[in-house]
Amino acid sequence: MAMEDPHLGKVVISTEELQARIGELGAEITADYADRPPLLVCILKGAFPFLADLVRAIDLPVEIDFMAVSSYGSSTKTSGIVRIVKDLDAELKGRHVIIVEDVVDSGLTLGYLRRNLGVREPASLEVCTLLVKEGLQRVDPDLAYVGFRIPPDFVIGYGLDVGEKYRNLPDIRLYEG
Ligand code: IMP
Ligand code: MG
Repeated sequence: MAMEDPHLGKVVISTEELQARIGELGAEITADYADRPPLLVCILKGAFPFLADLVRAIDLPVEIDFMAVSSYGSSTKTSGIVRIVKDLDAELKGRHVIIVEDVVDSGLTLGYLRRNLGVREPASLEVCTLLVKEGLQRVDPDLAYVGFRIPPDFVIGYGLDVGEKYRNLPDIRLYEG
């Protein structure tokens, strides 16, 4: 493979495992939202492959929108200070909203998003995250849909980056910095 980087570690979640679990999450969301098709809010950039696979596993007339945030901090640790780089086009008032995230690490980014979107008066607001890092959240983030719980190691691929790279890997791998 052209991406020869000594920091690239072993596969933590394979393509097959990702697709199987996303199929299950899609089925759960389909059942839970049968009478109220949701608006899925994809948090860019990391959640884009997850959103793309998840919507195709949901058998409902969903709508999607995108929000880009960037958190201040080093490349591998967030400070919790979040800046909205691109806001939503959609109005959330009265909508059943599901935030689609790539990974919840400290939970600070998600805490900010919940507050920011919560004041827009959605009818309901839930979170679907592909990954949760074990044991690092300062408060229980109350996550309705979780793909995988993983150890608190830095991972890349399937949307997750280090220095904006490796988002295009088809699986999730350790990155040993
Ligand atoms: P939190 O605010 O600490 O929960 O961090 C959430 C954000 O940090 C995610 O949306 C990612 O952008 C980034 N992040 C956290 N852990 C990782 C990782 O292991 N790999 C790549 N990005 C990560
Ligand atoms: Mg992210």
